Amino acid sequence: MLQALRVFRNTSAARCASRISRNGRISATSAATFSVRRSATTKADTLSPHYTQVYNPAQTVGYDKLDTFARRHFGPSPDNVQLMLLKLGYKDFDEFLSATVPAHVLIKRKLAVLPENGYTELQMLEHLEKLAGKNKIVRSFIGKGYYGTHVPPVIQRNLLESPEWYTSYTPYQPEISQGRLESLLNYQTMVSSLTGLPMANASLLDEGTAAAEAMAMSFHNLRGKKAKYVVDSQVHPQTIDVIQSRASKLGVELVFLQLNTNEGVAELENIAAETCGALVQYPATNGQLSDYERVGEIVHANKGLFAVATDLLALTLLKSPADFGADIALGNSQRFGVPFGYGGPHAAFFASTDKFSRKMPGRIVGVSKDRLGNQALRLALQTREQHIKREKATSNICTAQALLANMAAMYAVWHGPQGLKNIASRVYGYTAVLAAQIADNSAHKIQNSAFFDTITIELSGVSADEVLQTALEKHNINIFKVDDSSVSVSFDETVTKEELAGLVEVFTGKQADLPAELPRIPSEWLRSDEILTNEVFNTHHSETAMLRYLHLLQSKDLSLANSMIPLGSCTMKLNATVEMQLLSLPGFAYIHPFAPVNQAEGYKEMVDEFEKDLSDITGFAATTLMPNSGAQGEYTGLALIRQYFKARGEFEKRNICLIPVSAHGTNPASAAMCGLKVVPVKCLEDGLIDLVDMQAKAEKHKDNLCAIMITYPSTYGLFEPGVRQVIDTIHNAGGLVYLDGANMNAQVGLTSPGDLGADVCHLNIHKTFALSHGGGGPGQGPVCVAKHLVPYLPKHHFIDVPHVTEESIKAVNSAPFGSAAVIPVSYSYIKMLGSTGLPYASALAILNANYMLYRLKDVFNIMFVDHSEGKGIKHCAHEFIIDLREFKAAGIEAIDVAKRLQDYGFHAPTMSFPVAGTLMIEPTESENLEELDRFVEAMLSIRKEIDAHANGEAWGQVLKNAPHPLNDIISSSQEDWAARGYTREQAAFPLPYLKTSKCWPTVARVDDSYGDINLMCTCPSVEEVAGEA
Ligand SMILES: Cc1ncc(COP(=O)(O)O)c(C=O)c1O
Repeated sequence: MLQALRVFRNTSAARCASRISRNGRISATSAATFSVRRSATTKADTLSPHYTQVYNPAQTVGYDKLDTFARRHFGPSPDNVQLMLLKLGYKDFDEFLSATVPAHVLIKRKLAVLPENGYTELQMLEHLEKLAGKNKIVRSFIGKGYYGTHVPPVIQRNLLESPEWYTSYTPYQPEISQGRLESLLNYQTMVSSLTGLPMANASLLDEGTAAAEAMAMSFHNLRGKKAKYVVDSQVHPQTIDVIQSRASKLGVELVFLQLNTNEGVAELENIAAETCGALVQYPATNGQLSDYERVGEIVHANKGLFAVATDLLALTLLKSPADFGADIALGNSQRFGVPFGYGGPHAAFFASTDKFSRKMPGRIVGVSKDRLGNQALRLALQTREQHIKREKATSNICTAQALLANMAAMYAVWHGPQGLKNIASRVYGYTAVLAAQIADNSAHKIQNSAFFDTITIELSGVSADEVLQTALEKHNINIFKVDDSSVSVSFDETVTKEELAGLVEVFTGKQADLPAELPRIPSEWLRSDEILTNEVFNTHHSETAMLRYLHLLQSKDLSLANSMIPLGSCTMKLNATVEMQLLSLPGFAYIHPFAPVNQAEGYKEMVDEFEKDLSDITGFAATTLMPNSGAQGEYTGLALIRQYFKARGEFEKRNICLIPVSAHGTNPASAAMCGLKVVPVKCLEDGLIDLVDMQAKAEKHKDNLCAIMITYPSTYGLFEPGVRQVIDTIHNAGGLVYLDGANMNAQVGLTSPGDLGADVCHLNIHKTFALSHGGGGPGQGPVCVAKHLVPYLPKHHFIDVPHVTEESIKAVNSAPFGSAAVIPVSYSYIKMLGSTGLPYASALAILNANYMLYRLKDVFNIMFVDHSEGKGIKHCAHEFIIDLREFKAAGIEAIDVAKRLQDYGFHAPTMSFPVAGTLMIEPTESENLEELDRFVEAMLSIRKEIDAHANGEAWGQVLKNAPHPLNDIISSSQEDWAARGYTREQAAFPLPYLKTSKCWPTVARVDDSYGDINLMCTCPSVEEVAGEA
C-alpha cells in the first residue's frame, strides 16, 4: 500500500501541483484531468424521473407495502423539486448537480448499501426488533462504572422519547432554550452538591475522556513544566487506557501507584516535585473505600491538581471528594436513570473549584439577566468552548451529552435527596449482606476493608471462570472476572432479594439466610453536610408534578417540533420517529458494555453492518465506532495518522498539521491535543483555500509534515474545485489527509473522502445520519480509514473490537463502540433510504440550499457564491453564508437578525462562523418547500426592518429590542410601548402565519457580559430564593 501511495505521489501529485497558478487558484483545465482514485463501475442515478420513483416507489396500488420511508424523510416532493430546479434554470436534477459539484468530484459511485431500495418503516422496526432479540439480557453485577438503573417511566416517555427534548440544538440561543438550560443548570447543581465542588459543567462525553481532561488540565495548569502525572492503579482499566492514549501525545509521563497504601503515598512524595497532578478512583475499581486526604496534601504542596473519579450515587451518602481536598471530581452519571445501552450514551460530569473556572473543559450554563432585568440562563463564558482558542486550546470538547445530563438531572429531581439516599443505602445494604454471607459461610476472602457497592472476592477452591459460569447458568447473572482466582460483584438499584439469594448461593453453596434488616454504612464514611437542598430537588416527586415540570421546561424551547433549525455546519435534519422508537427496547438498553460478546450478538451484527455501510459511503476500507463525538473522531483520526508515522520511525519528526483558517475550531484543538504543531493555511477572498499558500507551506514543512485537516465541502459551504490538488500536494510532501466529514450531508452517494483520495475522515452521525442533536449531545463520531491506517484502529481493554493488531492505538473512549445505543437510529436511516435513496438526501440538501440562496440573493449579500454566469463558484453546496456586515454602519449586527428571527418563530442560522458578522444557512433535505419559503419570507421581512433602521425610521428599533417575549408584549408599560416606534403587533406578529402558530421566546435578549462578570453556575439556593422574595 505504501508503495502504491508513493507511486501516486510521484505522478499525479507532481503534475497537479504545478497547475496551481500564482493567485492561489487552479487553472480551468487542471481539475478535469485528475484521475478518479476509485473507479465508479456503476453510477448512482440522480435524474429527476428517478427521484419520483425513489420518493414514492408505490406509484400505483399493488402488492408492495405502502409504508415507504423516503417520502417521509425528504421534504420536497418531485413537483417541488422540478419547481425549484426551474427557478434555478435547470430541467433535471442531474443537470443541476453537474453544474454544482465539480466534475472530478461528482463521482456518484453506486453504494453497496442494502437493501437497495431501503426497508419500509415496518420492515425496519421488525428488523431492529430481531436484532435486539439476539442480545441476551443477563442481570449485570459487572460494575466498572456502568450500573443497572430504573429509568423512571415519566422521564423515559416525556424526556428521552420526546422530540421537544431530543431534537433541540445546543442552547446557543438562550431566549428559546430556557427549558433545557434550566435542566442543565440542575445537572450542574446536582454535581456540585454531591461532589462538594462549586463549579460543574453541563456534561462531558464519558468517564475515560473526563479523566483524560483532568490530566490535561493538570498538565497545562503548570504550563507543561511538570511532565509526570500519577494515576492510582485502582482506577477503572478503561479509564486508564484513555488517559494513556492522551498522555502519549502530550508528552505526559504516567506513573501508576497504589495510593491507598503507605508505600504508594511515600512514592508519590518522592516524585511530587515533578508531578502536575494525581487521579484516584473513589470508590476504587475493586470497590475499596479509602481516605485520600494525604494524597491531596502532597499534590497541593507541589502545586499539582488532585482529581477524583467518583460515583454520584455513592456520594449521596459518602464524604465528598471536596472533603479530602479534591480540585477536580469527575465520573459518569449513567446510574442516575440512563440505561447501560451497551456503553452509552451517558453523561460524564466534571467539577472543580472556582479557581479553575476558566480552565475547565466543556460547556457551562450560567445565570444572567435579560434586557428587561429578569433572570435568564445562558451558556456562560464562551471560553468554555475551549476550541474557540484554536491551537491554544487544551480541550476539543464541542458536542457533549446534554440529553443524558438532562435525564440524570431529572432523576435527581424525581427522587430528591432522601429518595437518592434511600437507593444508595439499599445498594450498600445488599453489598454488605453478600460480603457478610461470604465471610461467614465460605473460605473465600473479601478483599475490601470498606466498600459502598462493590466487593472483590479472592476465591478459594474454585476458579473465577467456574464462578462466572455458575452465576450465569443457574441465576442468569454476570459478575466480573478480575483474574483467574478473583471476581468482583457490583450492586445497583435494580437488584432483587432473589438475586442476592442467588449470589449467596453461588459463593457459599448454601441457601441464603438473610438478615431481617439491611446493614447501614459505617458512620466514619458518611458525609455530614446536606445534599441537594435546592427547591427543584425537593418539589416534583409526584408524577403529576414531574410531568408538569418536564412539560413546562420543554414548552420554553424551540426544537424541530416547532420549525426548521437552519444551522449551517450542523445539519439539523429530521430524526424520524421510526428511527428513534426502538432505542429503549430492553434488548438494546440493558446490555452492559463489558458483557461477554456472545450475549451481544444483535449488537455485533448491527455494528458490523453499520461499519460496512459507513466504509462504503466514505469510500474507505474500515471504520471504528468508538469515538463518541465529532471532535473525538478528529482526535482519533489524527492519532491514527501519528501511529502510522510512528510505525515508520517518523513520530517525532512529523509533527506539523496544516489547517485552513476557515476550519472549525475543534480541528486545531484536536491537532494540539495530538501533540501537533498547527500551521494555518490562508483562504482567498472568494472562500477557497489559497492553494499557493498551501503548496508553499507543504513544501516548507515537507520534512515534518504530518497531515492536513480539510473540511469538504468547505466550512464556507463550497465544493472547492481544488480539493484534489490539496490532497495530492500533501501526499507529495509526505503527509496524510484528514477530511473532516461534518459536511458529509453534501457528499453521500455523490462523492466521498475515499474517492477524493483522502486517508481518513470522521463522520458526525448526529448530523448527516439523522441522530438527534439532543440539545447538545449525544453524538457519535465514527472514523473511517483507508487501508494503510486500518492496522492502527483503536483497541479496547475488555472487548475484542474489529481490526485489532499489535499496532492498534489505545482506546479513545471508555466504551468499545462509543454510544452504541444510538447506533439503531443512524443504522435505520441508512437502511430505510438504501443505496438508491441516499444520494438524493445529498442532492436535495444541495438543492434546498441553492433554492433559498436564489430567493435571498437579491436582498442579501451571499458570500463566496457568484450567481452570475461564468465568474466564480455558481452554486453553494448544502449551506451558504449571508454577509450582514454591510449593515453594521446602520447599526445592525448579525445578532440583531438572529434574535429577531426568534420573533418569527425560527432558530437563527449559525452565527459568525466561519466568518464574523454572518449567518450560515443549512436547510437539509427534510424541509419542504413551504418551510423553506416561510423562512425566506421571514428573512425578506427582516430585510425591510433593516432598511427602516438604516433610514432612521423608529420602527426599525424592533430589531434591536428583539426577541420579544410574552411578558414584554403584555406587561411592559403603555408609555414604554408608546416610545418604541413600533407596535406590539409588529413585534410579535410580523407575518400572518405567526397568529396561528408561534414558538415564543420566554425571556428577552440575554445579557452575556453581565453573566460572565457575575458568574453563577448553580441553581440559586433555597436561602437565595428566599432572600429574593
Ligand atoms: C466542521 C465541523 N467539524 C467538527 C465538528 C465537531 O463535532 P462535535 O460537535 O460532534 O464534536 C463540528 C461541529 O459542529 C463541525 O461543524
